[in-house]
Amino acid sequence: MARETWGSRIGFVAAAIGSAVGLGNIWMFPMRAGLYGGAAFLIPYLIVLFAIGVVGLTVELTLGRATRGGPIEAFAKTLPGGKYLGILVNAIMVMIFAFYSLVLGWILRYFIASLTGELTGVNPGAFFDSLAFSKEALLWQFIMIVMTVAIVAMGVQKGIKRANKIMMPALFVLLVVLAIRSVTLPNAYEGLKFYLLPDWSKLMSGKTWIVALSQMFFSLSVLGTTMVVYGSYLKEEDDIPLSAIATAFGDTAVAVTAGFLVFPAVFSFGLEPTAGPGLVFVTLPMVFQKMPGGAFFGALFFLLLIFAGLSSTVSMLEVYVDSAITKLNMSRRNASILLGLLTFLVGAPSTVNPSYFDWLINISTVYIGPLGALIAALALIKLGVDRAYEELKKGALIEVSELWKPWVKYLYPIVIAVIYVSQFLLG
Ligand code: PHE
Ligand code: NA
Repeated sequence: MARETWGSRIGFVAAAIGSAVGLGNIWMFPMRAGLYGGAAFLIPYLIVLFAIGVVGLTVELTLGRATRGGPIEAFAKTLPGGKYLGILVNAIMVMIFAFYSLVLGWILRYFIASLTGELTGVNPGAFFDSLAFSKEALLWQFIMIVMTVAIVAMGVQKGIKRANKIMMPALFVLLVVLAIRSVTLPNAYEGLKFYLLPDWSKLMSGKTWIVALSQMFFSLSVLGTTMVVYGSYLKEEDDIPLSAIATAFGDTAVAVTAGFLVFPAVFSFGLEPTAGPGLVFVTLPMVFQKMPGGAFFGALFFLLLIFAGLSSTVSMLEVYVDSAITKLNMSRRNASILLGLLTFLVGAPSTVNPSYFDWLINISTVYIGPLGALIAALALIKLGVDRAYEELKKGALIEVSELWKPWVKYLYPIVIAVIYVSQFLLG
């Protein structure tokens, strides 16, 4: 059977941005920027985004298109033991989807509670404590997995592309509406000060650069998996370099705008800024209780998170669904359902067990995840940077400097190795 393709450039870019834009943008980026230099953080972030992130996207998309396959195919064709490395990164995707779907389940529950008005009358902290790590959360996690399965089962064009072409524009509108609401609140400037007041001294600290780099890899979905598979659905006449730039730009625009949504609102009501679950499930719900029209804006906010999250989980599941289709000869429909169930089995214990939840996150995003990007880089180098460069140029709408070759061969893998090691050293 011929490999599926995207069928349109705009559809592919929507899907790539959809994968990139996720919880990483909304609950991690703003807080990290606030802590690591405010507006000054944008300098290291944008430098690593263009020097490393865009390059990483071109590496993975090119590897996928050149080998016409996902990670198992791409690594098996290029690296000794590549097949097993491919299986390893597929397993990492299962783990990421497993914990991500639990968080999305909580989000779905909050969305419903905002619609029904239930969330306005409760203490958000208590509401979260009774939901998180309860058996009830299993149901919400399951529903989010089913939604992901439904989209993936419909295929690359009819499912993934179509869903992203609806969700991405809606996400941008919601984000802008919510950011405007936030910056027009009384005392909004206190939040803007926390977010943006530049602290130049932070630029000199290695930790700031490492945080920028590891945030960026996760945020762009550059882990040797999703972008390889998404690249494998590109045709020779499709453009890679400009799409990589558009993806990096879109992802960063959402992350930066999310800070305008979060901090003015939090500070306007005299609350403390936080990151992660505390921000989304406790602090912001308190903000929505106090804000005029807060129930409405709260519902919009959780809908925004559902769109951001679902377009990412689709890109996670697609990685191993594609592997099952091509390597095990399964039908797309059966592969989606079976692997959705498998993910639920892997994720379900995290629903009631916080330490297993943390373990899943750490293994998949800190200890093994970043190695996926390194393996993909090595695979491309083994394929040959000259050949990869020719592949990259096919269909390209802009010219890519020959410097890309040494950049990919030396600088890029070294930078990944350095962040990988230093995140353990710097803690
Ligand atoms: N980029 C997504 C985010 O920022 C997460 C993700 C990682 C999605 C890896 C797909 C693959 O939340
Ligand atoms: Na992201």
